[in-house]
Amino acid sequence: IGYFISPFYNNEGYNTGSQGGISILEVGAQEVGDRPVKTYELTAQETEWELGDGKQVNAWTYNGTVPGEALRVTKGDFVRVHLKNELDVPVTIHWHGVILPNKMDGVPGLTQDAVEPGESFTYEFIANDPGTYWYHSHQHSAEQVDRGLYGSLVIEEKEPEYEQDEFFILDEWTTGSGDQGSFNMGGMMQGHMSGDGEMDTKQLYDTFTVNGKSGDAIEPLVMKEGETARLRFVNAGYQQHQLMFPEDSIKVIANDAEEVSGEKGSAQVVEIAPGERIDVAYIKQSDEPAVIAENPNVENAGGMQIPVVSNENAVVQDDVTVPVSSAMADGTSYGSEELLFKETPDPDVTYDMDLSMGMNMGEGMSFQINGQTFPETPPIKVEEGDIVKVNIKNEGRMNHPMHLHGHRFQVASKNGTSYDNPIVKDMIHVKPGEEYVVYFEADNKGEWLFHCHDNNHADLGMITIVDYK
Ligand code: C2O
Ligand code: CU
Repeated sequence: IGYFISPFYNNEGYNTGSQGGISILEVGAQEVGDRPVKTYELTAQETEWELGDGKQVNAWTYNGTVPGEALRVTKGDFVRVHLKNELDVPVTIHWHGVILPNKMDGVPGLTQDAVEPGESFTYEFIANDPGTYWYHSHQHSAEQVDRGLYGSLVIEEKEPEYEQDEFFILDEWTTGSGDQGSFNMGGMMQGHMSGDGEMDTKQLYDTFTVNGKSGDAIEPLVMKEGETARLRFVNAGYQQHQLMFPEDSIKVIANDAEEVSGEKGSAQVVEIAPGERIDVAYIKQSDEPAVIAENPNVENAGGMQIPVVSNENAVVQDDVTVPVSSAMADGTSYGSEELLFKETPDPDVTYDMDLSMGMNMGEGMSFQINGQTFPETPPIKVEEGDIVKVNIKNEGRMNHPMHLHGHRFQVASKNGTSYDNPIVKDMIHVKPGEEYVVYFEADNKGEWLFHCHDNNHADLGMITIVDYK
């Protein structure tokens, strides 16, 4: 496949020397004690997967389905996951959003060696923070996540507040390109630069999925009148999605893994950036069928629809629509219930992160942080306990959903205006021309990625590392 792969992902060129030969007891570095242990086996394997509408792809899966096995644990559990690799390429598992020991973060070449074909690796962590998470391979993510190596992870409260609790992972696929099947990267490279220097991504994706299914194959949500469910949405794809809900039916209750409040208006449209998680409390107002639908007015909208019915046999009429509303729930328009910092702190470290696109002679397109591609990007050098301020500025023409591993940050301001109700997140969707200031505390020693979660951009260089001295 003729595209540039960062040496990082070859698992050779970039090696911190911190890997290999470490026993699981040392790497886990957390005691089981008398915690309940939840054990899972996840096997990375090739799977012929039915997307629906007669479309089949040659997917890579954890345990034979897209998404992979749904993991649900309870706050305080000790989670142990045995990964077995039956693919003929190396893989890992990254626990997106989970605060855990660095050695369990699943980043090949940085926190572990990638798990070679036929080999195994055991991940262990304590499920400390309730919330919505997902897991995915971090080995050559642009290809592997795209082919289906992802799944859901919920850390439940000891006493869940909602009786019904559902998970929806959104994704886009390119089918019908021969044996590459589901692989979007080929599509990406078929895209072309339009006159104003923007990447034309139209027609890259022909199939949009909710929990691995498209069109009529999308599984309906079954709810009775008056019931309220917690719906957890994750975007595993490359483009932002907007979901529209029936009028006055939802309240956004969490963003990434943090509970939010201070809702502005009665939002009916929720935007979800690549890598982001949004939870809503959804109330079924009547027994009439309803639908949660992708906003058709968004560029490249794929027509995803989740029918909501009162029993499994109910038929969803084609004329069920939701009102198109501009009441958009921008992820940063909410405040987190619990803040990292009550007031804007005095930083010990300030890092200016300028995001841009570059064309390198002979190598084609690259995505840069401060004019460099990973691993040449300048790291964020911290000491344990430091308060770190990062000024993230998008100087390019594409969206960059920037995700930080192993920590959460507080979003202090956008385009120079401070938030009255700041939000705590682990990713921030930085659109062209936007500038965000985020703060985090360096309280989890290790080497952690801070990267764009458009995995193509990451593979083409838009990664840096938070590096503890
Ligand atoms: Cu979803 Cu580096 O992560
Ligand atoms: Cu990007």
